[in-house]
Amino acid sequence: MEKIMTYPVVIVFTPFAIIMTVGFIVCAALLGAWARSVTVSRPPLLVSNPQRVGKLPVMGYNTWNAYYCNINETVVLETAQNMKALGLLDVGYNYVNIDDCYSEKNRSSSGDIVANKVTFPSGMKALTDKIHALEFKAGIYSDSGWFTCQLYPGSYLNEDRDIKLFQDWGFDLLKYDNCAVPFDEIIKEGMVGKFTRMANAIKKLSEESGKPPLVFSLCQWGRNEPWNWARTLGQSWRTTNDTYPEWSAITSILNQNSFYSWASDFYGHNDLDMLEVGNGNITFDEAKSHFTAWALMKSPLLIGTHLSSITQDTLTVLKNTEIIAINQDPVYGTSISPFRWGINPDWTYNATHPAQYWSGQSENGTVFMLLNTLDEPADMFFRLVESPWTRAGRQYSVRDLWTHTENGTAVRNFTAKSVPAHGVVALLLKDAGDEPAGTLPPCSTLEWCMGEDGTLINP
Ligand SMILES: *[C@@H]1O[C@H](CO)[C@@H](O)[C@H](O)[C@H]1NC(C)=O
Ligand SMILES: *[C@@H]1O[C@H](CO)[C@@H](O)[C@H](O)[C@H]1NC(C)=O
Ligand SMILES: *[C@@H]1O[C@H](CO)[C@@H](O)[C@H](O)[C@H]1NC(C)=O
Ligand SMILES: *[C@@H]1O[C@H](CO)[C@@H](O)[C@H](O)[C@H]1NC(C)=O
Ligand SMILES: *[C@@H]1O[C@H](CO)[C@@H](O)[C@H](O)[C@H]1NC(C)=O
Ligand SMILES: *[C@@H]1O[C@H](CO)[C@@H](O)[C@H](O)[C@H]1NC(C)=O
Ligand SMILES: *[C@@H]1O[C@H](CO)[C@@H](O)[C@H](O)[C@H]1NC(C)=O
Ligand SMILES: *[C@@H]1O[C@H](CO)[C@@H](O)[C@H](O)[C@H]1NC(C)=O
Repeated sequence: MEKIMTYPVVIVFTPFAIIMTVGFIVCAALLGAWARSVTVSRPPLLVSNPQRVGKLPVMGYNTWNAYYCNINETVVLETAQNMKALGLLDVGYNYVNIDDCYSEKNRSSSGDIVANKVTFPSGMKALTDKIHALEFKAGIYSDSGWFTCQLYPGSYLNEDRDIKLFQDWGFDLLKYDNCAVPFDEIIKEGMVGKFTRMANAIKKLSEESGKPPLVFSLCQWGRNEPWNWARTLGQSWRTTNDTYPEWSAITSILNQNSFYSWASDFYGHNDLDMLEVGNGNITFDEAKSHFTAWALMKSPLLIGTHLSSITQDTLTVLKNTEIIAINQDPVYGTSISPFRWGINPDWTYNATHPAQYWSGQSENGTVFMLLNTLDEPADMFFRLVESPWTRAGRQYSVRDLWTHTENGTAVRNFTAKSVPAHGVVALLLKDAGDEPAGTLPPCSTLEWCMGEDGTLINP
């Protein structure tokens, strides 16, 4: 057995030892702070919108659906000029947004994203100056991962640097994608944290620069239910996979969004994806349905078709100011929602046959959208009290928001005759006083309808 020797320990506090100790503690603290800044800690969710930007859905143009990766400064500028010449700016489309593929594949030696030297030779500041001179705002694109979806530099771990660059370049909006996701053991904070990093960078830059925050448009395709959390980070969030220019994409996106239309309101909007009006084989009636649904569901409205060859029909759809007015309603920020599915039982999830009967509030009355999802024309009938927003015992003047006509007075019900296949009817119902005395039955909803003397009015 070994003998354990004990010695007294004497600590001598010489001035040198004190300086060394204090120095060590300071170094350790600094090291710790640095380590925390590189190992990503999970910041609390925050409201990144101190100046309250993005109250209404963004309207404008985005390059992707028309040009995909084939963009350059000429086509972006010509698009802005066309937007103005075609009167699209006048009806509210005031953003010109650049999507993926504008940069060099590598950052600069100092670590910044670099505008592609061949396709954007004048640089981004010169381009946004011209866009602003045409009275538009400008939008740019990046990704929450290592790379963008087309494998250009992403902003992960470069959030502060990149948002500063985008602001210096003159951009007013950032669309932020979800490709090239870092491994869990690096990111350690999942989907919400990955997007919170950029929301924080936007907030910080706004506070430091005194400029309004860039509008933050999340594009993570509806993963992890952004309608439950993205409102605290940005002003819109994509809710579904990418769209494509066919009727089946429109019905599928509508079907999914019918289950969380409640999530849109001022400053935070379900993004149903960019418009395909004018693209693929979408017919005039389908385009009207597409545009009506997106607008009345308070989605951002971003045109994505070639403006140099746009047709009159496409312009007629995109420039329906009565439909746009609902999207941009300054008093009611909420989406229309279904009150009856129609051919399918209520709450049916069906990608080809979504809900058909919708209503919502507007500053001028109750808005109705009737969607004929069938492949042949159909009459579409509803009773006024099926909508929560119309009052029993009152009658309503009916305005057709596509024919721009007054269509009489509805008492108790309304029928739209021969709605075309895949077509839409959009109506604005305004209170027009009491319904005619003696209108029968005494209650338009017979459930528990009773006289003052206790007589039950049986159906
Ligand atoms: C710019 O892009 C447009 C659209 O893809 C293309 O038609 C045009 O040729 C391009 N111009 C240049 C100079 O690359
Ligand atoms: C881009 O960066 C990668 C990785 O650092 C390097 O291998 C490649 O040579 C660079 N490409 C160019 C065009 O500089
Ligand atoms: C969306 O895309 C993902 C990944 O490709 C796929 O698993 C999912 O089924 C798609 N959702 C819908 C509704 O199409
Ligand atoms: C559009 O194209 C799709 C796919 O080819 C097809 O299924 C659909 O019937 C077409 N729609 C119209 C209106 O032509
Ligand atoms: C309400 O009516 C006024 C006057 O016609 C119009 O300027 C405004 O755009 C309408 N608002 C909505 C949300 O339709
Ligand atoms: C969707 O609804 C239509 C109309 O009721 C029906 O014919 C079709 O089978 C449904 N599709 C699915 C996948 O249930
Ligand atoms: C619609 O309302 C009118 C006027 O009250 C009434 O005469 C008619 O029977 C109603 N139609 C249906 C199908 O309820
Ligand atoms: C409203 O009236 C116009 C003009 O008569 C007509 O073309 C349109 O189909 C009517 N709308 C509805 C929903 O009945």
